[in-house]
Amino acid sequence: MMDSPFGSFQLKRYPFAGDDSHQAWDAADELLLEYLAEQKFSTNASLLIFNDGFGALVTALGYFSLHSVSDSYCSHLSQRRNREDNGLGAVGEEAGLVQFDSLWKPVGEFDQVVLKVPRSLGLLEENLHRIATHLPPGTPIAAGGMLKVLSNGVFALFEKYFGKITTSLAAKKARLIFAKVGTGKVPKNPFPQTMEVEGLGIILVNHGGTFSRDRLDPGSRFFLRNFPRLSDEKLIVDLGCGNGLLSILAARRAPEAQMFLLDESYMAMASARQSFDANGLFHRGVFHTTNVLQGVDDDVADKVLCNPPFHFQNIQTREIALTMFEESKRVLKRTGSSGW
Ligand SMILES: C[S@@+](CC[C@H](N)C(=O)[O-])C[C@H]1O[C@@H](n2cnc3c(N)ncnc32)[C@H](O)[C@@H]1O
Repeated sequence: MMDSPFGSFQLKRYPFAGDDSHQAWDAADELLLEYLAEQKFSTNASLLIFNDGFGALVTALGYFSLHSVSDSYCSHLSQRRNREDNGLGAVGEEAGLVQFDSLWKPVGEFDQVVLKVPRSLGLLEENLHRIATHLPPGTPIAAGGMLKVLSNGVFALFEKYFGKITTSLAAKKARLIFAKVGTGKVPKNPFPQTMEVEGLGIILVNHGGTFSRDRLDPGSRFFLRNFPRLSDEKLIVDLGCGNGLLSILAARRAPEAQMFLLDESYMAMASARQSFDANGLFHRGVFHTTNVLQGVDDDVADKVLCNPPFHFQNIQTREIALTMFEESKRVLKRTGSSGW
C-alpha cells in the first residue's frame, strides 16, 4: 500500500505482478507526490507526467487532468490497471488520463510537468528536448529520481535544456530537480543517431531510449558470434527486437523470410523500422509494439530470435525473460526452433 498526501493506494507491478518482492513505486514517487501536494493545485489542474513506471503517479494524482508520456507499452498497461484497481477510470478523456508514447510532441499548456528520471540518459534527453521545444516558457518542471540514477550527466542535461536548476535535499535516497521552460534557443536533439556494425555492414538507427544505442552490448555480440543457421524459413520472429540488429542479419541470411519484430519500447520500434529502411529491407519487416508475444497466434513461426532483457525500469528481473521463453514455445511451429 502506498501512502501519500493524496491518499493510500494498492499498487502492483503489472504486467509481471507475480513476483511481489519489489513494490510498484519508490521514494522518488513519494517525494514528487509530497511536493505536488504542497503546490495546492485546483482539481481542474492539468499535469504532464513522464516515465511513470507502474502507475503510482497517475493513480495518486487521479483527480487531476493527466497526460502521461512513456516509452514503455508495459508501463502504460500498468498505469491503466492500477487506476482501475483503485476505482479510477483507466484511460480516455472522460477518465482524465490520456497516454502518449515517448515520440509524441507535447501540445497545449500544463500547470506542471512531472518527470521520473529514467535510467537511460538518451531517453531523458529525448524527454527534455521535447519539453523545452514544445511547451510555453515558464512551464514548471519537477523531476524526481533515486540517487543511483541521478548521475552528473542527468544534472548536465537539465542545465543544457533549462539553464538554471534547483534541487531539493536528498531524502530516503531520492531527490528532486526543479526547472522552468526558458525562452532561449533549444539545443538540437542529437537523436536519432546512426551507427555501423563493424564487419557486417549493418546500419543501425537509434532513438535515445533504445537499448544499447551507442555500442553493441556483450549479449548482442555473443548472439552475433553464435547466430543460428538459417535458410528457407518463412516467418522469423525477433522478440525484444531493440533497434532490429538480429532480424536485419536474419533477413539477409534467410532471403525468403518475413521478419516479425516485437518490442515493448516505442523508441525501439521506431528505431527498428528506420534501421530496416536504412539497410534496404523496406518490405521485409512487420513491426508490433506489445508485451512479449501478445497478439501473435500459436504455431506460426519457423524461428524465434530473442536476446532477452534482465531489467525492467530500474529493477533487475528474470520474469520477463522466462515469459519470453514460454511464449516462444507457443508461437513456434512444431518444426520451428529458437535462438536465445
Ligand atoms: C537485451 S535487449 C535486446 C535488443 C536487441 N534484440 C539486441 O539483441 O541488441 C532486450 C529488449 O527487450 C525489450 N523488452 C523488455 N521487456 C519487454 C516486454 N515485456 N515485451 C517485449 N519486449 C520487451 C527491451 O525494450 C529491449 O529492446
